[in-house]
Amino acid sequence: MPIIEETPVVIIGAGAAGLTLATFLHTAGVPFVVLERRDRAYIEGRQRAGVVDARGVRMFERWGLADRLLAGPVAQTIDYRINGIGRVFEIAGDDGSEGRFCTQQMLVTNLLRELIDVRGGDVRFDVTDVTITNEDGQRPQVQYARDGQTRTIACDHIVGCDADRGVSRASIPSGILTTFSHEFGYAWLAVLVEAPVVAHPIMGASDRGFVAQLPRGPQRSRYYLQCALSDGPQDWPDERIWDEIRVRLRDDSIANAAVLDREVVPLRSVVHAPMQFRNLYLAGDAAHLVPPTGAKGMNMALYDVDMLAQGLVTAVRDQDGSALADYSATVLPRVWRYQEFSAWMTDTMHNGGDPVQHGMFRQMAARARLDALFSSPVAARLHSDFQRGMA
Ligand code: PHB
Repeated sequence: MPIIEETPVVIIGAGAAGLTLATFLHTAGVPFVVLERRDRAYIEGRQRAGVVDARGVRMFERWGLADRLLAGPVAQTIDYRINGIGRVFEIAGDDGSEGRFCTQQMLVTNLLRELIDVRGGDVRFDVTDVTITNEDGQRPQVQYARDGQTRTIACDHIVGCDADRGVSRASIPSGILTTFSHEFGYAWLAVLVEAPVVAHPIMGASDRGFVAQLPRGPQRSRYYLQCALSDGPQDWPDERIWDEIRVRLRDDSIANAAVLDREVVPLRSVVHAPMQFRNLYLAGDAAHLVPPTGAKGMNMALYDVDMLAQGLVTAVRDQDGSALADYSATVLPRVWRYQEFSAWMTDTMHNGGDPVQHGMFRQMAARARLDALFSSPVAARLHSDFQRGMA
């Protein structure tokens, strides 16, 4: 006999989006079950984004969770460089609000501790064969297997926080969603190294392509090196990585350090709309992808689940489903602003570097834009999160 249970909300995926949503629902007293196909150690160890932006910080403050969940220094400066020469740039908002260099790994670790260890929240790891039933006029169901047993959860709302290749979006019949996408034509090699950021985080354009170094705690950092889409990790042995970092940053004093992890990430922008179908709602990477250049991927996910949590609380607690019905229409304008910012920053930082992709005219124009940002506080403010409506 299959086991049948009931809960108002099933969340599929225990990454930053799913765990944040679950913690918000728990805070508001809305019951839920989170299903995750990996184990807890894998989720805690996964390397991803590095920044919670000013809006995200304020969101955690509003839910009374900032002190417990956000660690890491306030993100105040980035050293922007063209061929090694540049300027340290203030990135705090002009109303004084600030983002945080809080890695996704740190946020997820803190969420798991708060949600499971402190509050006893219902997060089920190692589940397989998740199947969504979301028919017109029927109560939704989520079926899954664990420890050789099949279980069915009858629910009112299903939230897909299971990223680009998860089962949630795949369960929506074809013809319902429109996909908007853009390929940039290059990738980043992302390497985790046993060496901290020395003075400031670095973002650099260079003749040989983009290079960046971002903090990952006191002892480690993540370097990003623009590479060919066809490259794999095997094309980047340690010596090549360090040689290329020294050349792109024009800094021979950088010493080799242990490389702990390397992966190749293609740069692309994708939006699937609408972000809901019947009683299924998509959040984070399940609904949209941005290139990592502007550090907005996790922040978009946090915005989605902030709006979803509010809609689910009024639907479940007050029997008012209107905010939930408007979820996609509410969040998509902001999703597109994040998309525009991420594409602009990606084009500027990469076109200003290696001209092989877009030619020397675009290289010089992008460098002029970067020079203006470096030298003019007015121009810099025009491109801040605030002016772009994302703060
Ligand atoms: C990161 O920490 O991965 C990161 C930070 C800032 C960026 C891009 C990536 O602009």
